[in-house]
Amino acid sequence: MKFISISDALEKGKGSVAIRGWVHRERGSNEVKFVVLRDASDIVQCVIKKENFSAAQWKAIDKVQIEASMTIHGEIKEDKRAPTGFEIQVNEFEIIGESDKFPITKDLNEELLGDRRHLWLRSRKMNAIMKIRDTVLFTMRNHWRTKGFYEYNSPSILGMAGEGGSTLFEVKYFDKKAFLTQTWQLHAEPAIFSLEKIFTIQPSFRAEKSNTSRHLTEYWHAEMEVAWEDFEYLQDDAEELIKDVVNAVLKNHKKELEILERDTKKLIPSTKKKFPRMTYEDALKILKEKKDMKVDFGKDLRTIEEDKLSELYDTPIIITRYPKKIKAFYMKEDPKDPRVVLGFDMIGPEGYGELVGASQREENIDKLKENLEAQGENPDAYEFYFDTRRYGSVPHGGFGMGVERVISWICGLSNIKDAIAFPRTPSRFYP
Ligand code: 4AD
Repeated sequence: MKFISISDALEKGKGSVAIRGWVHRERGSNEVKFVVLRDASDIVQCVIKKENFSAAQWKAIDKVQIEASMTIHGEIKEDKRAPTGFEIQVNEFEIIGESDKFPITKDLNEELLGDRRHLWLRSRKMNAIMKIRDTVLFTMRNHWRTKGFYEYNSPSILGMAGEGGSTLFEVKYFDKKAFLTQTWQLHAEPAIFSLEKIFTIQPSFRAEKSNTSRHLTEYWHAEMEVAWEDFEYLQDDAEELIKDVVNAVLKNHKKELEILERDTKKLIPSTKKKFPRMTYEDALKILKEKKDMKVDFGKDLRTIEEDKLSELYDTPIIITRYPKKIKAFYMKEDPKDPRVVLGFDMIGPEGYGELVGASQREENIDKLKENLEAQGENPDAYEFYFDTRRYGSVPHGGFGMGVERVISWICGLSNIKDAIAFPRTPSRFYP
């Protein structure tokens, strides 16, 4: 008999089935053994009665431990008391791989769970998150593909900074010093002169020393870059992308969101309402009026201010036109107000922080050099980048979305670490 997935078996609901997977839970008596079997798709309770098996078989199943792998043939039928509403009366089973005592128990602290991450991936929680992650990545690719974007990749080893020196990881590159990329941007801009609309989803690296619930040192960065389009287009695309992703997760992952105990009502507004857009100056006014928080023009918004502001809304918000001196060197000066740039951040609801960083790109080489010098960077390292402005420069821009930030928010996670299989943080790069 052909093996089917546990979810297909549950769907079938009656008759003979053959399934295979791992022991999720087990308990039993002298006469009967209950094994909850788990596969990629779901769990199901299997009942093994001593009377139906040889003494050797009973002995084997009687001492089976959690996470042993096995195959089962049996009859499935509805049973409201069982964990997923059905039960399999087992006719035949085979233990494929025995398991030692599984070193993950309910009371493990964060640190030990981190050490055993390779085993924790089997948990229902991580299984649910990884499935949602798969849908998030698929939907992002699909979003851009259907709009005519090409997937284009950039190097991870660079000779200069993309986002300023403070969060750069240095790598020994033979007898020279190189850096791990913080963004694809400087190697994406040259490609829009060939492909016009491009995107990537690839790792970015930030040497952020702080252990926060929002920062990883290696995260997946969904980035787009586009020729000819303006600042409004970037905001529209980032908003549509978020809406597509949230819709896809709500549509396909009812079960997983339930396992994660996510209050999905909180996600609905982000699929329907237009995200509020405000300038940085408006944001300062709102903070003053509604939250009694005073921020001087020119100061970046800190996490606490972003959180207070986002409390006022039930969708992400888009904050535009930040002061030039606190933003990256490549952001285009606003022709109507040289104090600010045509850049925006999208801040997630429920305290999930910045989901997107974006801008129109500065086309003027002298301004780019001036900005780099002001930030203590040597413009000589950027000569290739200036060439993009020398040969047929066009208005262009792009954004970067933190994939794990988005997953964290959609799944309602308390820490970004669970949005990726093997999180890299200042204190952990093993396993
Ligand atoms: O705002 P950032 O620094 O923007 C850029 O890197 C641009 N060059 C992107 C572009 O225009 N192509 O980073 C973009 C996003 C942030 O909004 C945040 O969601 C995420 O990347 N991010 C992080 N996610 C997890 N851990 C970190 N340490 C992150 N740093 C940034």
